[in-house]
Amino acid sequence: MLEVHELTKKFGGFTAVNRISFEVQRGEIVGLIGPNGSGKSTTFNLLAGMFEPTSGHVMFDGQPMSGLSSSHICKQGVARTFQIPRPFRKLSILENATLAAYYGASEPITKGEAERRAHDALSLIDLPRDPAARVDGLGAAGLKKLEMARALATQPKLLLADESLGGLDETEMAQAAQMLKRIRDERGITIIWVEHIMGVLMKVIDRCLVLDHGELIAQGSPSEVTHDPRVIEVYLGTDAQSVQQQVARNASSQDT
Ligand SMILES: Nc1ncnc2c1ncn2[C@@H]1O[C@H](COP(=O)(O)OP(=O)(O)OP(=O)(O)O)[C@@H](O)[C@H]1O
Ligand SMILES: [Mg+2]
Repeated sequence: MLEVHELTKKFGGFTAVNRISFEVQRGEIVGLIGPNGSGKSTTFNLLAGMFEPTSGHVMFDGQPMSGLSSSHICKQGVARTFQIPRPFRKLSILENATLAAYYGASEPITKGEAERRAHDALSLIDLPRDPAARVDGLGAAGLKKLEMARALATQPKLLLADESLGGLDETEMAQAAQMLKRIRDERGITIIWVEHIMGVLMKVIDRCLVLDHGELIAQGSPSEVTHDPRVIEVYLGTDAQSVQQQVARNASSQDT
């Protein structure tokens, strides 16, 4: 579904993403991990058309995607959430999702259809569909959910989810992870998920990509990447053993 070839982004003399190449298959949930500042959000910004690549290219569903505007890319079926939620605070929750549905529609749609798509996204995410429900009433977990609902209301084929769990408690994190899995299982939406909380991420992903200083230093199954000496050195550190144990437990629970 997605082919990324030698993708590079420079800000002046600084290279934030350096010649990364990878593929994502339809229906996969792929984790994208790496230390702070390693280029994860920049990669999403390149894929979603917020930034133009300095070099390299991206193919989505067999079509070249690099250089297209973010609205065009969204209409083609790629939606992203932002690390820091920024909803329209004066609009209701339903209006926020409805606006996203209009934005992501590949052809003009009626108000009724936009609201239907918004309702569908909000119910999938378990947010209130009541037209009176305000954004101000949402806490950290609710705002992250609204980001996700806005992305889903555009009816994506590929969802780029940027750190959706920061600031949530354990129960909320587990629910959010299950929600991503449901989005893939029930709707067939392919997902790339950036998340620092390894225990939760590793439960859900099929495959993992690892960035460090803008370079793709590893990719493979959760077990492969968590045993990779370079990934341990630059990212997992002293947590490596507990993350490896978690991955082994996940694998054995899937076998039974
Ligand atoms: N618009 C920009 N202009 C200049 N430098 C930028 C810009 N956006 C990102 N950077 C730099 O690029 C590098 C990668 O940033 P990016 O936000 O992609 O990291 P990240 O992996 O998402 O980190 P985190 O885990 O903290 O979210 C950082 O050094 C950052 O300061
Ligand atoms: Mg980031």
